Amino acid sequence: MDRIDRSWTARIADALELRHFLVPRTPILSPARRRLARALTVADLRKVAARQVPRAVFDYTDGAADEEISLRRTREYLRELTFVPSSLSGLEAVDTSTTLFGAKVAQPFVLAPTGFTRMMHADGETAVVRSARRHGVAYTLSTMGTTSIEQVAAESADAPLWFQLYVSRDRETNADLLRRARAAGYGALLVTVDVPVGGQRLRDARHGFGYPPRLAAGTFLDGLRRPGWTARFLTTPPLSFASLGGSTKDLGAHMAHLFDPTMTIADLQWLRQEWDGPFVVKGVQSVADAVRYAEAGVDGIILSNHGGRQLDRSPTPVALLPEVVDAVGSRLTVGVDSGFLSGADIAAALALGADFVMLGRAYLYGLMAGGELGVDRALEILSAELVRTMKLLGVGAVDDLTPAHVRVPGTEAAARAPFRATRPRPGEHRPGGAQARRTASLR
Ligand code: GLV
Repeated sequence: MDRIDRSWTARIADALELRHFLVPRTPILSPARRRLARALTVADLRKVAARQVPRAVFDYTDGAADEEISLRRTREYLRELTFVPSSLSGLEAVDTSTTLFGAKVAQPFVLAPTGFTRMMHADGETAVVRSARRHGVAYTLSTMGTTSIEQVAAESADAPLWFQLYVSRDRETNADLLRRARAAGYGALLVTVDVPVGGQRLRDARHGFGYPPRLAAGTFLDGLRRPGWTARFLTTPPLSFASLGGSTKDLGAHMAHLFDPTMTIADLQWLRQEWDGPFVVKGVQSVADAVRYAEAGVDGIILSNHGGRQLDRSPTPVALLPEVVDAVGSRLTVGVDSGFLSGADIAAALALGADFVMLGRAYLYGLMAGGELGVDRALEILSAELVRTMKLLGVGAVDDLTPAHVRVPGTEAAARAPFRATRPRPGEHRPGGAQARRTASLR
């Protein structure tokens, strides 16, 4: 009855007390910054991106090959993984840093090489490498990059840079690229092996957006609805494969030579001699191939189906991890990519034995959504999600993520596996990171 008896002045006074809960948001005046601040996930950034760039540009980035089965399956597989947390682990802070090919990085994820990056936003690779540097994240420049090896290096300061090579039919082109990358201070070399021929990207074909990309008239009409993108595109230097020289009209000629379908594993030996740093093969899709590359003496492999952009119905890279890590993990650094869009996805792959995860679309959505600030937003979101996931799992360091933290669809083994303490006890010896993860096998 107390409530009924209260005077209206007392009720107003109570209501006014609520004002303490009404904290107004600090207004963000710039519409671009406001859009980015409201994006809470990479999926949100993807939606912003779709409104900032012409449809053909968005679809080039977002799309995959044929029926896009590879990409869909990979996303579904990641979503089906179940985390198994350990509670009351006594952790306050977590450390996401790791060492990859001898270089310390703040995050266990690496920005993947992407072609035509300046088409997504005119600031292209420059925006990406600056953001990577600020976040202590390694960045990989693509042979099909639209900013040169030297320009990207000039923006990277001393942040870790990797270079990705599409092996050209012309050996001198390969040797020249490697010499320049080495001279500019790139660390690891990634040789992509899943492109003996370009995949059939139906969205691109339907936009009249060929391979190599030609921006059809429709893209420019659509561009009228995307004035920011169009103004930048028309007022900045035309797209070219900046490290390969030549102009926009040479893109097609370069593409014809870029992928040498006659290449065999024996040719890797020749390339290996041209590069004295870490040598990594990107695009491995089976345990048998992982073993062959290990026997060929590479330093690392990346399990990848090229984000579903090459062979459709290809194996789901993250699903290959446990077996591949069992087979070659003690000899090689093992990375994985394709379909990774969140910190939780990344944590799951690390738990399944990956030493690092590569991200392509995840940062490109940010780039399309808002240039360098958009890449910053993507990296902020991903690192915050990774930290939160690790805390919720009760794991203090990336090396402490083990297969016991993830239940794979169709297996119950992880749920039964005993937990390792997440912190070493005084005097306890822990094998190093990836090795620690490998000791806990799923099967
Ligand atoms: C280039 O590597 C692409 O997938 O478009």
